[in-house]
Amino acid sequence: MIKSYEKLLEENKAWAKDKIGQDPEFFQRLVDIQRPKFLWIGCSDSRVPPNEITQTQPGEIFIHRNVANLVIHTDLNMLSVVQYAVEVLQIEHIIVCGHYGCGGVKAAMSQHSFGLINKWIRHIKDVYRYHQAEIDSLASEEGRLNKLIEANVMEQTYNLAKTSIIQRSWKNRQAPHLHGWVYDLADGIIRPLLDLAPNSSLGHPIYEFDNLE
Ligand code: CO
Repeated sequence: MIKSYEKLLEENKAWAKDKIGQDPEFFQRLVDIQRPKFLWIGCSDSRVPPNEITQTQPGEIFIHRNVANLVIHTDLNMLSVVQYAVEVLQIEHIIVCGHYGCGGVKAAMSQHSFGLINKWIRHIKDVYRYHQAEIDSLASEEGRLNKLIEANVMEQTYNLAKTSIIQRSWKNRQAPHLHGWVYDLADGIIRPLLDLAPNSSLGHPIYEFDNLE
């Protein structure tokens, strides 16, 4: 009997054959260069695959995923992706995409300890504290969770804008645009929440660097 992971390799072969059947140059074009216009920062959740839900092909989206799509200003992994995308690939748009029903956000909303991941989702508890009045005004638990999911997407989008990488790029090439989106598992639709055009206000001048070149 074929093992579960062996099925992945079989399907991969079938996919590659199919691609070449439709377009013989498909892989050769991607070998030498990638020129994606978008950087996607999304949740690791298996139900939110960026290429599939946007019907994009290999080469079209540069992708970083972590639990609950966080943009933490000391995360070298995320920052390295953002720097490469902005400074080398010259990305035009960065999308921070959360999703309703996010387990990471749900865990952060509880008082339960989950071990190591406590340290990661602590950042979402901070988002809850900033937006507590608005979140707690909602009657249902699902409504409160969804409101925190939306607030988290918006805070993470602002976190991107607060980095020197983005502010320098805004100053020097008036790009990229930042977008905060939320995906609905129930209907497959992405809803835009926030757009930050280059040189948008960051909410408070203390975040605006005044000596970037
Ligand atoms: Co999630």
